[in-house]
Amino acid sequence: MRNQRSLWRLAQPVLRAALITISVASVWAQPPGRTPQKPKGPWMQKALSPDQRADLLVSAMTLDEKISLLHGGGWQAVFGGPDTPPTRSLGGAGFIPGIARLGIPDLQMADAAVGVTRSAKFGRYSTPLPSGVSEASSWDLKVAREYGALIGRELRDQGYNMSLGGGVNLTREPRNGRSFEYKGEDPILAGRLVGAEMKALQEQGIIGHTKHYALNDQENGRSYVNVKAGKRAMRETDLLAFEIGIKESGLGVVMCSYNLLNGDYACENGYLLNDVLKTQWGFQGFVVSDWGATHSTVRAALAGLDMEMPGDNFFGAALKKAVETGAVPVTRINDMVHRVLRTEFAAGLFDNPPSRKVPNIFTGLEVAQRVAEQGSVLLKNAGGQLPLAASGIRSIAVIGSHADAGVPSGGGSAQVDPPGGNAVPPLHPPQPPWYEQVIWHPSSPLKAIRTKAPGAKVEYNPGTDPAAAAALAAASDVAIVFVNQPTSEGADVASLSLPNDQDALVRAVASANPHTVVVLETGGAVTMPWIDQVSAVLAAWFPGIRGGEAIASILFGDVNPSAKLPLTFPRSEADLPHPELAVQPPPASDADSVPPFPGAPYKENKRQFDLEFNEGLKVGYKWYDAEGKTPLFPFGFGLSYTTYAYSDLKVTPGPAPAVAFTLKNTGTRPGAEVAQVYVTLPAAAGEPFKRLVSWDKVRLAPGEAKTVTLALDPHYLSIFDPDKDAWSLLPGEYKVHVGGSSRDLPLSGTFGIGGSR
Ligand code: BGC
Repeated sequence: MRNQRSLWRLAQPVLRAALITISVASVWAQPPGRTPQKPKGPWMQKALSPDQRADLLVSAMTLDEKISLLHGGGWQAVFGGPDTPPTRSLGGAGFIPGIARLGIPDLQMADAAVGVTRSAKFGRYSTPLPSGVSEASSWDLKVAREYGALIGRELRDQGYNMSLGGGVNLTREPRNGRSFEYKGEDPILAGRLVGAEMKALQEQGIIGHTKHYALNDQENGRSYVNVKAGKRAMRETDLLAFEIGIKESGLGVVMCSYNLLNGDYACENGYLLNDVLKTQWGFQGFVVSDWGATHSTVRAALAGLDMEMPGDNFFGAALKKAVETGAVPVTRINDMVHRVLRTEFAAGLFDNPPSRKVPNIFTGLEVAQRVAEQGSVLLKNAGGQLPLAASGIRSIAVIGSHADAGVPSGGGSAQVDPPGGNAVPPLHPPQPPWYEQVIWHPSSPLKAIRTKAPGAKVEYNPGTDPAAAAALAAASDVAIVFVNQPTSEGADVASLSLPNDQDALVRAVASANPHTVVVLETGGAVTMPWIDQVSAVLAAWFPGIRGGEAIASILFGDVNPSAKLPLTFPRSEADLPHPELAVQPPPASDADSVPPFPGAPYKENKRQFDLEFNEGLKVGYKWYDAEGKTPLFPFGFGLSYTTYAYSDLKVTPGPAPAVAFTLKNTGTRPGAEVAQVYVTLPAAAGEPFKRLVSWDKVRLAPGEAKTVTLALDPHYLSIFDPDKDAWSLLPGEYKVHVGGSSRDLPLSGTFGIGGSR
């Protein structure tokens, strides 16, 4: 007996360890993506609202369980490692294990700004879509919906249930390395597009997301820049884009950004999070920090941050302690957990969890091509150079930008894996880290052009030797020069000039051939010192996995271009609000400011830097209009292979003002025109420059005319009154301008508004 007892005593620690291992393993080592346990409990009654269900669940949770839902487990939870057990993470940027006892699902997050990223961990395909700025150039909410629905579907097919995307920072600094992810410089256009995209994404049963809240409008020094901006300027610019996007979609998660705003980090900024987002906009979802953007426990929790990612420096043990000492009230911790859970219930994560399946590659390719075709902007077409006539041309020179192999894409956390690997592998050892490599998607413009012109001799020159490229151009009927400007998260571009002497290449080719067409593959605006020497320019941005095919379809006229610029192309940096880059990249020797990879926590640094957004309300075209500067290509501009005429403007005044006008296709091809309505506010607004308030993309057959009627949303006509802390619709006379670009507005009229709303 005694022997048995001592044997038992000896065995106890071993058994306990085994039991712990088994239970830990059951939480951490199930197959990736599997929900821990079939959900049960009163919160599973579907008839209850997401809020009621979340309340029931919160009341059944221990403090440790609550805390466990409010932070990630660090990168090791995502990737595993020699000393860490494998987890159920699918390898996306974020993972928070669910709670088996309560049937709470794992939260599987993937970066998905332009398609689902990091799918390579399980060899999964996802569609590399054209960049966000391409989507925005469509000015088409249907395109935005298709974009969001595709990303949502592919997230679901891979087992993810939360997206990290929907970037809507305004392009106020065109050198921003992330302009490609965003939706241009206008808050109403950007906000409506992200709203449509996220609504469609959430319809796939995935939690929608928007970022980077707020005013993280450049990459250099993003972790230590203290942006200074006035209330009115913020509310009418970047914050308006978020407001519209969040309200129109009901998206579930807002990511607070790295920068400081008016002295407080965005992720502990009570004005941004509690006052504006949660109180004034009534946001019911939760706020997640950008990766490594949490800087405190109590301060952040009380200011409105709900979840720290990717680790638990502040919202793990420290948060538990803060609750136990009362520094963070229990009501607040319950609110944080409630927000997370009500978002999961509302998106259907409990009732209809994603189950992994093979994504439909073909749908992805079709959508990608359609977006690129709708989003590539024809900027110049002298003498009807385009479309190219497939039958009349004997020889075509295709030059530069690896057009034989593929199309470039934007780098950083938005980088989607190229199916089949990088089409242009980096040549020189040592290999740069993955986030610095330019990834080329295997969609060769050269091949697509050859397919369109089977009777022509189509030859390729890499463009590395301008003289050789010019010689090929001289011997060809037409020269198509591809040029690129790689951009990425983590750094701004040093200038708007094309890198690597590509301006010299274009000049050399253009002087050898008067039929030179330039295709821009860029993250945003670039300067074009050669613009008068070339006959046509197509801005294709980073055009995604069917970029080559889309470009060829436009060049040969199978698709009539209809995209318009969602951002201004300036003539030079001298015309920008901040001609010098406001924040220079940190010196390479400065280990504090060079993270090992984007999103890795920067060491707390002492070098905060004030950046005054002294352009105020004058973001994008409003700056050029107000300052009397002529852009190279204005906001809203884009050519078509047909022409349009605007006439008969009628303005309906009253509490719900509207405009109606006639739009006619006066050319010989079917086309789609983005008709734009701008308004100048009464003088009392102190905003003498016009703002975009409405638009419609109208499809017209040759000779067809349609009456276009557009309601003008009073919110979009209002100013933000910082004294009242509210929007105000001023009484007075409003001028309306209608046309096909911010600088080509043939129709004008006026209407009056009688009082405040
Ligand atoms: C980026 C976010 C991204 C996160 C997770 C950060 O560096 O700023 O946009 O969602 O990393 O990858």
